[in-house]
Amino acid sequence: MNPLNQEPLLSLDALPDGALAEAQAVIDGESESLVVYRSGEAVRAWLNVCPHAGRRLDWAPGQFLKSREGQLVCAAHGAAFELERGGCVAGPCRGDRLRPVAVEVRDGQVWLA
Ligand code: FES
Repeated sequence: MNPLNQEPLLSLDALPDGALAEAQAVIDGESESLVVYRSGEAVRAWLNVCPHAGRRLDWAPGQFLKSREGQLVCAAHGAAFELERGGCVAGPCRGDRLRPVAVEVRDGQVWLA
């Protein structure tokens, strides 16, 4: 196991309710950027890769756009994703979805599950 995965992705305290954050993890031997989202006590994560053209979703590391409706908006061409299941609801990859990454909360920290 890569030592990166023996560390938490981030502290729950650093992720207020409704916030999006970026974290790094090693998945299948590759270092990946993740987008991590908190909704109440639930935390979800996806690869920080847009299904449209494979670009990062953030406009600068960890800086994600959110629409007034609370959707994650890709900084490259504006695809909008709902944050329950990561489905694209508008834009060039409508109907596609973000690739989920299983995470869990333990001892106030977010970990890969
Ligand atoms: S890469 Fe995200 S909308 Fe094009």
